Amino acid sequence: MHTVHRTPSVAVTTRAAKDIATESLVIPIFEEDSLDDLDGLDQASGGDLGRARSRGEFRGRVFELFSMSAAGWKAGRVILVGAGKRADCQAERLRRVAITAGLTARRRGMTTITILNRAGTLVQPEVAAQVLAEGAVMSNFDGASYKSGGDPRVWLDHVDIHVGSTSTAIEQAAARGRIVGECCNMAREMANEPGNGLTPRLFADRAVAIAKTAGLGVEVLDEKQIAGLKMEMLLGVARGSAEPPRVIVLRHEPKHAVDGVVLGLVGKGVTFDTGGISIKPSLEMDKMKDDMSGGAAVICAMSAIARLNLPVRCIGVVPTTENMPGGRAIKPGDILTSAEGKTVEVLNTDAEGRLILGDALWYVRQLGATHLVDLATLTGAVIVALGKTTSGIFGRPRTWVDEVLRASERAGDRSWPMPLFEDYKELFKSEIADFGNTGGRPAGAITAALFVEEFTGTLPWVHMDIAGTSWADETKAYQPKGATGVGVRTLVELALDAQAWGTRA
Ligand code: BES
Ligand code: MN
Ligand code: ZN
Repeated sequence: MHTVHRTPSVAVTTRAAKDIATESLVIPIFEEDSLDDLDGLDQASGGDLGRARSRGEFRGRVFELFSMSAAGWKAGRVILVGAGKRADCQAERLRRVAITAGLTARRRGMTTITILNRAGTLVQPEVAAQVLAEGAVMSNFDGASYKSGGDPRVWLDHVDIHVGSTSTAIEQAAARGRIVGECCNMAREMANEPGNGLTPRLFADRAVAIAKTAGLGVEVLDEKQIAGLKMEMLLGVARGSAEPPRVIVLRHEPKHAVDGVVLGLVGKGVTFDTGGISIKPSLEMDKMKDDMSGGAAVICAMSAIARLNLPVRCIGVVPTTENMPGGRAIKPGDILTSAEGKTVEVLNTDAEGRLILGDALWYVRQLGATHLVDLATLTGAVIVALGKTTSGIFGRPRTWVDEVLRASERAGDRSWPMPLFEDYKELFKSEIADFGNTGGRPAGAITAALFVEEFTGTLPWVHMDIAGTSWADETKAYQPKGATGVGVRTLVELALDAQAWGTRA
């Protein structure tokens, strides 16, 4: 396999634009920009830029590109990236501009770029430095990796960020963005990995390697230990496969941590979901290799949290298994007893995610979590409700849901709150067990979340359904087709803010 991502070095610069020696100087341009602040850019282009602007060749619309050489400037090439309307410019716009710029530079064979921030007061300089670094690093990622023959890819090896000024906080923000971007890329790499390259055991091996590099505590429970804990819902799902399940447990225990708070992060780690006996149609079943995206997000976010040494205790639990229709597979109608003791009638073996999450949420509570967040590619129904670019957020109490929503907004992981009204519980009643594992088509994302809630005790809990957002079906200027790394930045942002929510009444 070829490398699919590399992390460039990142530095902050305050040189004047024309004095920056770089292969590619990236300048975001807003639609209403006069370019007056970029003194002499038009002259340096020999009037080319002004002419392109006036005939509408380059209007500054989002992700439009204009490439020029600038006479008398030190940069080899100047790449203007459309940034849309100035008033719409938030951190996420800058992050995407940086990704677009990095991908463009790489396509043109360039290995060093400098990105200027021209958002002015719209985005704080620290925030701009972080998101520009995140974006530049995320541009150093490619999907396909198993093509034979030489690897023709060009990688960025150095990125300079220019946000107008510098300070320790700005430099730290850029360094933070570099780590967060790298951890997003690691999550994308794992979610792109085919099912035979990432079985539960191989997934656990990778988690161990990532944890060791980051300085996280790590433990992997095997099928015997899982049986010892009576996680019958996880064992039930795993029974249809020749591959044994694992539970990956990660710990971040910093010396100085917010008192009385333990963030419990749980991620769905189904390395391939055939549906089991309730088997899925063949069309696009290959996509079900990404059914461990939630687990990858938890592992990679915890890696970032440890590398940034964030002052909040964190426990990550990732239950991982295949969902296969083998001869010993669970059958529709089977009854399983969860580790918590609640009984479930398995009405549909394809509703496996909620089963493994239930046992994992119970387990992270046993380990001492005080605040829960789970991430899962849980339902097709969330795609019907919110489409491919917005994750569904569920949970309680409202204050905790709002914390996670705000974190997702800072992270650029677009999310929207969904209801958990009691009435919906009618839909997944069982005649003979405490409840069934599906409620049918109506409100499918909500009944799945309500099922998961059964295993969260009385703790604050948020569930993010990332079934739509974990995978991009189409290449966009800022996102190659494939795994998106959704959730990594949200969890890091949540941990970054722990001092605030951990001490709030
Ligand atoms: N992993 C799937 C959810 C999914 C569907 C993710 C489409 C990405 C794209 C999950 O395990 C599943 O199969 N859910 C079922 C639940 C149903 C049987 C109640 C679904 O959504 O169809
Ligand atoms: Mn399924
Ligand atoms: Zn699934």
